[in-house]
Amino acid sequence: MKIRPAHTVENIKPYFFASLNKTLAELKAKGLDIIRLDMGSPDLPPAQFIIERLIESARDPKKHGYAPMGGSSAFLKAVADYYKTRFEVSLNPKTEALALLGSKEGIFNINHTLLDPGDIVLMPDPYYPVYLAGAQLADSRVFFMPLLKENDFLPDLQAIPREIAREAKMMWLNYPNNPTGAVAGLDFFTEAVEFARENEIVIVHDAPYTDLTFDGYRAHSILEVPGAKDVAIEFNSLSKTYNMAGWRIGMAVGNAEVIRLLATYKSQIDNSIFTPIMDAGALALTGDQSWLVERNLVYQERRDVVYDGLVEAGFEVEKPKAALYLWARLPEKFGDPMQFCADVLNETGVSLTPGVIYGPSGKDYIRISIITPTPQIKEAMKRLVAWIKEN
Ligand SMILES: Cc1ncc(COP(=O)(O)O)c(C=O)c1O
Repeated sequence: MKIRPAHTVENIKPYFFASLNKTLAELKAKGLDIIRLDMGSPDLPPAQFIIERLIESARDPKKHGYAPMGGSSAFLKAVADYYKTRFEVSLNPKTEALALLGSKEGIFNINHTLLDPGDIVLMPDPYYPVYLAGAQLADSRVFFMPLLKENDFLPDLQAIPREIAREAKMMWLNYPNNPTGAVAGLDFFTEAVEFARENEIVIVHDAPYTDLTFDGYRAHSILEVPGAKDVAIEFNSLSKTYNMAGWRIGMAVGNAEVIRLLATYKSQIDNSIFTPIMDAGALALTGDQSWLVERNLVYQERRDVVYDGLVEAGFEVEKPKAALYLWARLPEKFGDPMQFCADVLNETGVSLTPGVIYGPSGKDYIRISIITPTPQIKEAMKRLVAWIKEN
């Protein structure tokens, strides 16, 4: 029998990092010394007190059954407390917060929650790949908002044709941004909220990097804009903020009706999160935050090493104030960044990400992550600079 997939599934490509992992395993087996500057999985562990809480909670025999759908009240209260302390944003933990199995889960599920086939989604280009796959699997139509260097990698909302804006149902934003490392100020978020209100669009702001900032910069939540909760939800995550990427815990906050709909949709799919993970997550959000300062200094040093190497190698690149990535324009002589990344990987073992996997505007760029131990990053940049000088 010939298996016939859904047409939406047929058109979806495998997740880039899933195929890259396979290639890297093959190269490693051949003896190549691989240094990964590609994915965004933090290499550092969470603070010890968070791990201790997980262990202590897991020892409690009462913590092993199904947890409350949408998250334990302790976790949701911690989310609200965190938003109050960190952003001065008040949330009702019962109606305006929802626990997620990592924010990727919510980012995917929001599509089917809000979109009918043919609905228009406004999407930054470059984008986090799950935005596009989610939209495609919901059979919606995508309108790209290019993020250009000359606009500080912010979308130009006034450039969106009026009829598209009127018809659009949902708009993605993501600051601090993956992959560009750009940040957005409250003036931009205010403009976006106004635009969404005028055009009756739900803003979905994806904000997992608000606590990975450098040089004293403080990133914003879109919910800091007065009235933002009328039109916006925000995805956030413990993955990057607290080095808990493998734990799979995140949250959606904001507009109560969107949160209710997403909670209903996802209640058909999953059965909440392991309670000890939520207990430890609650402590991460509300406990001592001072360890994040030291951790961010580690990232900041790595950012500087990568930036200096890229400049020496002739890339056009900005020094990001936040997130875990440098977005670098390839020197013209190299042509295709996809080929460039393949050549660099095969000849030096340094694994980079071609910008085009994040959308058409990324076609001349590469993304470099800073989630590898500092000595390895230094070695990778040495190899990259030497390779570029030879080629
Ligand atoms: C922009 C962005 N959003 C969401 C995620 C997903 O994070 P998680 O599912 O671990 O919360 C990532 C991970 O790399 C990301 O870069």
